[in-house]
Amino acid sequence: MAVGTQGAVSSAESAASDVGVAIMKKGGNAVDAAVAVGFALSVTHPTAGNIGGGGFMVVRLPDGTSTAIDYREMAPQAATRDMYVDASGQVTKEGRIGPKAAGIPGVVAGFAMAHAKYGKLPWAEVLAPAIALARDGAVLDSFHAQDMGRALTRVGEYVKDPNSSDPELQAALKSTLAYFSKPDGSPYAEGELWKQPDLAQTLEAVAKGGADAFYKGKLGPDMAKKVKAMGGIWAPKDLAGYRAIVREPIRFSYHGHDIITMPPPSAGGVVLRQILAAAEYLEMSKLPWDSTQRIHLYVEALRRTYADRNELIGDPDFIKVPMAELLDTSYVGKRMAGIDPKKATPSSEIKAGLQLRESQHTTHYSVIDGSGMAVANTYTLNAGFGAKVVIPGTGVLLNNEMDDFTSKVGSPNMFGLVQGPQNAIAPGKRMLSSMTPTILVKDGKLRAVLGSPGGPTITTTVAQLVMQLIDHGRTLQQAVEATRVHHQWLPDQILAEGTLSPTISSELQALGHKVVTWDGIGHANCIEVDPKTSRLIAVADVKRDGGKASAY
Ligand code: GLY
Repeated sequence: MAVGTQGAVSSAESAASDVGVAIMKKGGNAVDAAVAVGFALSVTHPTAGNIGGGGFMVVRLPDGTSTAIDYREMAPQAATRDMYVDASGQVTKEGRIGPKAAGIPGVVAGFAMAHAKYGKLPWAEVLAPAIALARDGAVLDSFHAQDMGRALTRVGEYVKDPNSSDPELQAALKSTLAYFSKPDGSPYAEGELWKQPDLAQTLEAVAKGGADAFYKGKLGPDMAKKVKAMGGIWAPKDLAGYRAIVREPIRFSYHGHDIITMPPPSAGGVVLRQILAAAEYLEMSKLPWDSTQRIHLYVEALRRTYADRNELIGDPDFIKVPMAELLDTSYVGKRMAGIDPKKATPSSEIKAGLQLRESQHTTHYSVIDGSGMAVANTYTLNAGFGAKVVIPGTGVLLNNEMDDFTSKVGSPNMFGLVQGPQNAIAPGKRMLSSMTPTILVKDGKLRAVLGSPGGPTITTTVAQLVMQLIDHGRTLQQAVEATRVHHQWLPDQILAEGTLSPTISSELQALGHKVVTWDGIGHANCIEVDPKTSRLIAVADVKRDGGKASAY
């Protein structure tokens, strides 16, 4: 935890959090700091920090106005609906590993848009710390050394897998192994310095030439050519045509607080709204947080909201998302009316509540500056280390975000999400997300900046933070440390952290729930504003996955 009054950052990696505070001390605002932290994480937190992926940023200005920036990846023009289904109807691995899994990245465009709209410091100054970390090296802490070691093992297994004998994929994976290893081929250890000269050069080009240098200039066509040579489907026009989009945030009230969060193509905001409307309808706040009955009602609500998520939400530029209905509290109330307080409803009996007419790894960080400007930013490569492919000579690690589309209706994606045709692949379309960067406001004053990684568990992690802060009088530190529980309709099971009380777990099973234990759900790097003292209290979710809170 770190406490300050002039600026605060909470992120997944220590050097990146310090970069954010240093930028604010130099006179930058929260957006300058958020962009600098995002670029720094692309160097120091390669499992999810990135310039080869995409994400969402929610910004609240000191005057109370707010914006959402959508910089989600887009499907390349050569993408087709069934590109990951083989002749026998099976979903292939190509949507998860290798260059074909990569959507067109949005991070550089998104950060350039945020900076152009709100930044104060020169663009090059905001990129300078990330360039220095890449060029001069970043010292690996134990989490990151272990994480890179695990990634090397996973990629090594793919290299040995006879099903990945395609020579282009083999070459791509081998170059990734080399990128993340020491020159002698051994893995980096904690405390060692990791230099990335290729990435430094790419970031330098972006610092000099802005987003155009990444998408057009020399770099864009060069990246497209290299991805294609490795077996991918990028074309220069995909990169030249990428656009970040300003979206109207979802805003709603919950128990006297205003919540500002992300609209589609993330499902995060809609699902958060539905969970909290369900909590109100079912009066969950009257039950103790650590009680079987509250968790039962909460899980029953999730089962229903995720059925809607998976069947009804997609890229609003391609399908009509029934936003008015989905956000309507009376619609949510009707959906919740069928909940049996004494028995789990099998997910097979739950369907989405509307008919469409006719479409793990991520990282979240939070920034607040002394003027009250607040940024919630969640961005991702999808899986840890994305598609496990670095574009040679650039340091750009490719995302495998295409797996967030529905590869085949009825087949689970890597998060077990079973999604509908509204989220099918189409050229230029953005894949449905769960990312939920969220800002909480009370009586017109900033109260908290929240978010988490974790695929579909992102939204439930944020919902649990909101409910604990607002309904259960917990501090952010207590809320972040509390045991997390998740359900997503299908598979029909509760995911619970191992710290869930065995008594509650048995009682949930007696109500008909299957309970599966997970090591850690989410990584909530968040900041609250103390309602009494107005101090900024940054909390990093260090027990789950490291990270650092910095403030001054
Ligand atoms: N890639 C995870 C998400 O966007 O939900």
